Order: sequence, then C-alpha cells, then structure tokens
Amino acid sequence: MGLKMIASCFYFLLFVNAAYGDMSYSFPEEMKRGSVIGNMAKDLGLGTGAFSNRRARIDTDGTDKRYCDINLNNGELIVADRIDREGLCGEKASCILKQELVLENPLELHRISLHIQDINDNSPQFKEDLINLEIHELAVRGARFVLEEAHDADVGQNSVQQYSLKKNDHFNLAVDENTIELVLEKELDREKQQEINLILTALDGGSPQRSGTVVIHVTVLDANDNAPVFSQAVYKASLPENSPVDTVVVTVSATDADEGVNGEVTYEFGHVTDDVKKIFIIDRKIGEIRVIGTVDYETTSSFEIRVKAKDGLGLSSYAKVVISIKDVNDNAPVVSLKSITNPIPENVSPGTEVGIINVQDRDSETNGQVRCFIQQGVPFKLVPSIKNYYSLVTTGQLDREVVSDYNITITATDEGSPPLSSSKTVQLSVADINDNPPVFEEQSYSAYVSENNKPGSTLCSVSARDPDWRQNGTVIYSLLPGEVNGAPVSSYLSVNGDTGVIHAVRSFDYEQLRSFKVQVMARDNGSPPLSSNVSVSVFISDVNDNSPQILYPAPEGNSFMTELVPKAAHEGSLVSKVIAVDADSGQNAWLSYHIVKSTDPGLFTIGLHSGEIRTQRDISESDSMKQNLIVSVKDNGQPSLSATCSMYLLISDNLAEVPELKDISYDEKNSKLTSYLIIALVSVSTFFLTFIIIILGVRFCRRRKPRLLFDGAVAIPSAYLPPNYADVDGTGTLRSTYNYDAYLTTGSRTSDFKFVTSYNDNTLPADQTLRKSPSDFAEVFGELEESLEV
Ligand SMILES: *[C@@H]1O[C@H](CO)[C@@H](O)[C@H](O)[C@H]1NC(C)=O
Ligand SMILES: *[C@@H]1O[C@H](CO)[C@@H](O)[C@H](O)[C@H]1NC(C)=O
Ligand SMILES: *[C@@H]1O[C@H](CO)[C@@H](O)[C@H](O)[C@H]1NC(C)=O
Repeated sequence: MGLKMIASCFYFLLFVNAAYGDMSYSFPEEMKRGSVIGNMAKDLGLGTGAFSNRRARIDTDGTDKRYCDINLNNGELIVADRIDREGLCGEKASCILKQELVLENPLELHRISLHIQDINDNSPQFKEDLINLEIHELAVRGARFVLEEAHDADVGQNSVQQYSLKKNDHFNLAVDENTIELVLEKELDREKQQEINLILTALDGGSPQRSGTVVIHVTVLDANDNAPVFSQAVYKASLPENSPVDTVVVTVSATDADEGVNGEVTYEFGHVTDDVKKIFIIDRKIGEIRVIGTVDYETTSSFEIRVKAKDGLGLSSYAKVVISIKDVNDNAPVVSLKSITNPIPENVSPGTEVGIINVQDRDSETNGQVRCFIQQGVPFKLVPSIKNYYSLVTTGQLDREVVSDYNITITATDEGSPPLSSSKTVQLSVADINDNPPVFEEQSYSAYVSENNKPGSTLCSVSARDPDWRQNGTVIYSLLPGEVNGAPVSSYLSVNGDTGVIHAVRSFDYEQLRSFKVQVMARDNGSPPLSSNVSVSVFISDVNDNSPQILYPAPEGNSFMTELVPKAAHEGSLVSKVIAVDADSGQNAWLSYHIVKSTDPGLFTIGLHSGEIRTQRDISESDSMKQNLIVSVKDNGQPSLSATCSMYLLISDNLAEVPELKDISYDEKNSKLTSYLIIALVSVSTFFLTFIIIILGVRFCRRRKPRLLFDGAVAIPSAYLPPNYADVDGTGTLRSTYNYDAYLTTGSRTSDFKFVTSYNDNTLPADQTLRKSPSDFAEVFGELEESLEV
C-alpha cells in the first residue's frame, strides 16, 4: 500500500513536470455544436486577451479528429463536433478524451481531460428478435436454460439493469451477474401445450428508462439432451496487428455428450459489434476464429468476443475470447511545424527560438518513442521542450551576407525495429540588417592631372562595395568638408554621388599647388546609415607654361651691369655667368644656354648648362674693348620656352681706361650712383678674379685631384636668388626646391631624371641647399643700397 502511494506520488511529480497543468471538464455526450464546456482562460487565471496573443490552440492527442475548439476572444472551450460516447469509448466505463492546450511565448502545454458522461440514448437490444428454444417435456422443475443477454451501448446505470419475463405458467427468470436463465417452475406437458411464447424485456437504469424485448419461442420436445460445454470459459489469444487475412487467431471447442444431431455442435459469435464482424469470422463447424479484415492496434488494442456453441437442438453455451493485439511499428513519426519565424533577422542572438515543432507517432511504447534531429552544419539546433514538442533555436550568429537561406531538414526516427522515420524540410530565410559599412576597394586613391586642366574634367573614380541588401547596400559618395590652401575642397573637386567619379572643379596651377588630399565618404542608405572614408590624393603634374626667368644679368635696359675682363685673361678663363631660373620643374626647368649673337663670335663660349661665360682664346690687343653677347636661355620642355639677355663685357684692367663707359651710363641724375655702382662692380669683379686665380692656382697644383665643388664657380650674392629657389650646386644651375622635392618623391631614378640625380649626387648633398625668404632678400638689398650711399 505504502509503495503504491509513493509510486503514485512519483507519477504525479513526473506528470507535473511534463505538463504545466491539467484541466478537467466533465460534460454529457451529444451536446450541440458550439455549446460551452468551460472557460479555460478563467481556469488558468489568464486575462481574456492572453489566448489570442499567445496563439492558444487545441492539439488532439494522436487522432486527427477535433472535437472541441477555443473561442480565442473569451477563452471558452466549446464543442466542435458531435461527441458520441459510445462511438468513442464503446463499453468502457469511463470515457476520457485527452486534448492538449498549447500556448506560445513561452511555450506551455496544458492537458485537458474531457470526461464524457453517458446519456441514456441507447435502448437495450437482444441479438435476435426471436429466440427458439427446444425443451424436452421431461425436463424437471428447476431446470435452467441459458438465454443470451441483451446489450445496451450505454454504460453504467444506462446499461441493462434488469430483465423481466412476462407472466406465464411455466417459467421464471434467474438473473445473476453474467447469465440469464429461464428456470422451469412447472413441468411441461407436450400433449397439453406443444409451443409456448414468452416475452423477455430488458430494462436499463436510465431516466427515462429504455427497454428492449425478445420473444422466446419454446417448442416442447419429446426427448432430453445435453448442452455443449466449452473446454475453457475464457480463451486468450494475442495477435500482431496487420496480421494477414486468414490468420488463425484461436480455435474454441465445445463438446456435447449427446449423440447424433444432439451432439452436433456449431459455433457462432454472440453479440459483437459490426467492427468485430468486419475483422474476425468464426468457423461454424470447427470453431476456428480467423482474420478477415485489417487488424490495427492503433484503432483497437484488444477484443472481447462472446462465442456461442449450439447443438443441433438449440441448446447453447457461451465462452469469452479475449484477443489482445500486439503493436507493430507500422506508423512513421509525423513531424509538424507548429509555428515559425520566417524570415529571421540576421542580428538575432544565439539561442533565439525561431520555431516550434511537434512530433507524433501513433505506435505505442518503444515503437512510438521518437528521436528528432536536424542536419549538421547549420547554425540551428532542436531543443526538446515539453512532451512531443521541440524548439528550433539558433546556435550562432547569422549572417545574411554569407548564407541567406537555410533548408532545415527535421528528421524524426522512432525506436521500433526496424525503425521508421520521416522528415520535413523547412525553408528559412535570413532578413537583412544594415550591418556592413561600405568598403572602398582600395586603401587610398591617387589621381594625376596635368596643370591647366579643363574645369569639369574627370580625375579618377572611387568605388566602395556594401554587401547588404537593397537600400542597406546602396552606396552614396560624397566629399567630406575640408580645406585646401584655405579654400573649401568643394571649390577644387566634386564627386558624383552615384558613380564615385571625381571631377575637377577648377583649373589647377602646378606652380601654386603640387598636390592635395581630400576625404571621400561612402555611405549606405540604411537607417541608421553606415559609412567609411577614404583619402584621395591629387597630384598635379607640370606643364611647360613658364619661360625661363633670367636673374643675372638683369633684363635689358639695366645695362650698367657690365663685366670687366682682364686683358691678360687666358683661354678658358671664367668671365661671367648667366643665371636663370624656371618656375616649372623637371625637364621643363632644365635650362640650356646659347650665345645667339656676339661682337666677336670666336672669343667667348657659354657652358651649355652652367651658363658660365669663358674666353675661348687668349685676349689679344687687337680685340675690341667692348664686347656684347646676346644669350638665349631655353628650357627643355615640349615645346620649349626661352628668354634672352644681353651681356656687356669690357676688356680692361682698369676702369679709368674706359672713357666710353659714359656711353653705357644712364641719365645725369643717376650718374653719381652709377659711378659708385661701377666702382663697386669693378672691385667686386676684381675680387672675384683674384679669388679665381687663387683657385686656379690651387687647382693647378693639384691637377690630378678630382674636381672640387667650387671649380670655376662664380659667387653670386644669395640676395639675387628669388624666394624658394636654391643654389644647389654653386656651379651655376639653379633649380627650384620644388624640383628637388619632386624628383626625390619619384622614388625610382627613372631615365627622365637621371641626369639630374647624378648631377646632384656628385655635387651637393641636400643639406647644403640654400634658401632665402623674401624678407632676407629685402634686407640684403637694403644693406647693399646703404653701403653704396656711403
Ligand atoms: C532549399 O530548397 C529550395 C527548394 O528545394 C531550393 O530552391 C534552394 O536552392 C535550397 N536552398 C539551399 C540553401 O539549399
Ligand atoms: C535594412 O536594415 C534594417 C535594419 O538595420 C532593416 O530593418 C531593414 O529591413 C533592412 N532593409 C532591407 C531592404 O532588408
Ligand atoms: C568619416 O569622416 C567623418 C568626418 O570626419 C566622421 O564623422 C566619420 O566618423 C568618419 N567615418 C569613418 C568610418 O571613419
């Protein structure tokens, strides 16, 4: 007893774990459709709206038929179909329909037990309308004759409760639990009465009471005999379901002690349902019960059949055959999708429930135990939930840009042998979230453009990719605000928002701006949008648009700049130097010097690139004292640009020897200044010459030594140098610092710049560059003027 209680407690605990709660309703069969059975929302303590929010529904347990429904508005359980207790439960004393109430969010399962109460809607019924009995006239008082009982499809009080026999002279009724017998009260006399008709009534206990009657026709016979006797009162057999037709289930046998017709036993079924008649047949002669229809465990798991053995004269007896059906694994599990979230946003966190799956197997025990799984390699798993329910949950981060669709195959296999399985494929798609910023195809972009470009010309194009879907992946380009040389970038460039093509807004001037950098942003159209930035460097290349500019001698007109050439100058002596610069760079600033016209063509030469003017032969007495040279300076651009200057040379050792000097002087006003200047120049020249001679002397002594830096140099006051220019080598060619920077940045020493590089390598390291700012320039000029005033 104690053990049993513990067991039932245990069962109760299990039961509570398996389901959230149980509800039980009791109501009579045959209620009208739509009748209210009870209010489940109220019974669960939920508000009226909860049922529709949580997608409440009734799941039938195993069978497909739906007997009741939920009114989602108020939570009432209502009758959905005819509920016939006899059809559902037959003779079972209690008829319970099991249904399940499923609520989602969170998933909850409540068992509903519907107790169908019997109503007295069936009358007791005898198998036949007429029972023929043959009774020997010598039957003694008290002899008993078994009658077949009546049957009432209702149960309990509504089933057959009592029998009554219409009053007659000879018979009474004896009813015990299982049998009804006619008891002979007064001996028969065939000679007086050959046939007797009796009326037997069966009554049920319902209200109103129903009844059924049968006429018993008794023929009084001359002789006496024995009723057949079954070898067993109960025959038990077990039969696998789906047994083929003609399978012998069991053979009943009864013997009759009589001889001849009286001992000939025939068999038949007692009162059985039509279902049983469709499945089993009994052989009249040999009592063999065979299968003639489909035996389905899932429909009926056991049969109880009354069999009757009758001898030739109508005496009969009854036995019971109990056939239990054995389950065979003949039902594959059925997978059904109860709810699904589709599409799934790609940003759901791992562990999110995206679907609810239910699995049913109609078989019992191990044949009905189901394992459920999905294929490997998808970021989903099945988590067993309550009873036959599984949740499909994500196991990892989803990424629509990597996998946008999943076909999830849910396979259910039962434990039978051989096992049966079935599967269902669910197509899940992943919805886009704006989780990828546009990414530029390159880390940075460079554009090269020649100066003097047309406004509106295309410089380059940038391109960014965004793998997101539709507007989340649509890229729009724009220029980030900024400044170039103090002006907004938009006055330099514009970018096409759709294509990323970058246009120049204005014409660029290399001499003012060599390069600049802007930031371009690529933004997608999501909300909120994502963006990334890239820098675009624009390099402007030089065009030969500046002619050489001659710094020394001063342009035509300022001819007071006259060089003195000592009469004793020998061949190759450095006399003067033309200094020119070109605002362009590279080849465009690579200057060459030519004498285009001279007083005495054979006397002077000019260094092609140095601009140094030297004597070509020794000066002789016969040479004219005044020598004029016209020098042209050309750059190396395509086409090249040039400038010319005049150089005045005086062959003299002494300014006093030069009376004609007045010819090349200026207005009277300036004569004083001019003569000062001349004195200054001459003394400077003399100083130079002395210096040069010393250098030459030194050089002579070290003839075999490599060339020195100051070889043949003419010192030019640095004040002559324009701002941002540098005397890089001291030997005459001036190059802009820009140029110097430019070829450094080219990195590789390309053939174009080869000569420049080698020149530089041999002559001057970068740190000896000399720079002068405009203020320095003015200062020096001021000093020079002051000293001249003295
Ligand atoms: C999923 O199945 C559908 C239909 O069979 C097919 O068109 C689709 O390509 C499959 N998708 C994947 C990701 O396998
Ligand atoms: C873009 O992403 C947002 C969330 O970032 C999402 O709500 C929207 O549905 C996406 N658009 C498309 C077309 O997928
Ligand atoms: C791009 O530049 C803008 C402006 O400077 C800034 O607001 C934004 O955060 C930058 N975006 C990225 C991805 O760096």
